[in-house]
Amino acid sequence: MFNVKKIREDFPMLKTTMEHQQLIYFDNAATTFKPQSVIDEVVNYYENECVNIHRGDYELSHTVSKKYDDTRKHVANFIGAKSEKEIVFTSGASESLNLIAQSFGLNNLKKGDVILTTEAEHASSILPWFNVAKKTGAVVEFIDMDNEGKMHLDDIKKSIHDKVKVVVVAHVSNVLGYVNPIKEISRLAHEVGAIMVCDGAQSVAHMPINVVDLDVDFFCFSAHKMLGPTGVGVLYGKYDKLNGMDPVLFGGGSNARFNMCGDVVLKQAPDKFESGTRNIEGILGFNKAIEYLESIGMDTVEKVERELYEYMMEKLKKMDNLILYNPNADTAIIAFNVKGIFAQDVAAYLSKFGIGVRAGNHCAKILLEVLGTNETLRASLYFYNTKEEIDKFIEVLSDITLEKTIDIYL
Ligand SMILES: Cc1ncc(COP(=O)(O)O)c(C=O)c1O
Repeated sequence: MFNVKKIREDFPMLKTTMEHQQLIYFDNAATTFKPQSVIDEVVNYYENECVNIHRGDYELSHTVSKKYDDTRKHVANFIGAKSEKEIVFTSGASESLNLIAQSFGLNNLKKGDVILTTEAEHASSILPWFNVAKKTGAVVEFIDMDNEGKMHLDDIKKSIHDKVKVVVVAHVSNVLGYVNPIKEISRLAHEVGAIMVCDGAQSVAHMPINVVDLDVDFFCFSAHKMLGPTGVGVLYGKYDKLNGMDPVLFGGGSNARFNMCGDVVLKQAPDKFESGTRNIEGILGFNKAIEYLESIGMDTVEKVERELYEYMMEKLKKMDNLILYNPNADTAIIAFNVKGIFAQDVAAYLSKFGIGVRAGNHCAKILLEVLGTNETLRASLYFYNTKEEIDKFIEVLSDITLEKTIDIYL
């Protein structure tokens, strides 16, 4: 039985204050708080297990190596991958997305090939492919979306053609919270022989994921957005695709042998992509984060967030001082503005009441052009948020005026 009061006791940050008030944290799409079990695991590494892995011929190194390898299995299992060999540890979703573009993209695309994506993509997803396009002569094309920033299957069908070699689409938009029909997009991409790259940074923490069912070739995400430590990410790749790619980072741990002539024999995936000492403590902490999510159950996480979203949206819809950009979002991300007040000033005003939201373009600069605004506020919820927190947020937002936001700077 989900008990939010009990859950909240596991998160030290939920006891933190801001402006001398209990912090109300609605910026979970940026990063999430960490449960004590994750923090303890990271500290335990430094206090009791601080050795390198896969290199030491002594018991403790073997023990920590096994914990690292077990995390890979755990991640594979969590996202429904066929094998742990399909899981590469990186520093985050950004590195995972860049790795695909720099390796697969630069080596396989040529002039006239098409990279198909959307105007809603995060910078970490789209900029690596702009770079590939510039260097190879490939062209970036965009799937049409409606003026609410939503994609429809018909638009996707219209955009796919024989020249498309790569399709890059986020599972969930970090600005508007829509879930994109990835399974159908993968099918359409594969029909024309294109590979499907899915940015899962905003989905994997919030719903059950099965990469085999989605049939994506690559799926990327970050540990810190799903209760884990920063500096850890995952690149999932179907094994033949992953193993067929060259690494972009060379060094210790990734090769079987090399000689003076420069002949290098690389290991098989995933090892060939993990040169150098990894973020060991972060990866061990990540294992605990997944354990924590599993103890709640991803179906429950999704359901709890849905209830919170609907509770908040119902109240927001009744307020006439707001512009709501995604009143029909699929996840608990709410994009809005207060009429006549600069978004950053609204965020600063909310902060005076201990409420943390994000204001700006959310690294998806093209999307805001589609929405016809320079910036939005974003409230992003997680399962540890409460209806009481939402009530407080609504109370402060109902009372906001331009004059009051100016006053906070005086
Ligand atoms: C949709 C999406 N993709 C990629 C990223 C990049 O993640 P990271 O900064 O952890 O590498 C983010 C981060 O906000 C995101 O929201």
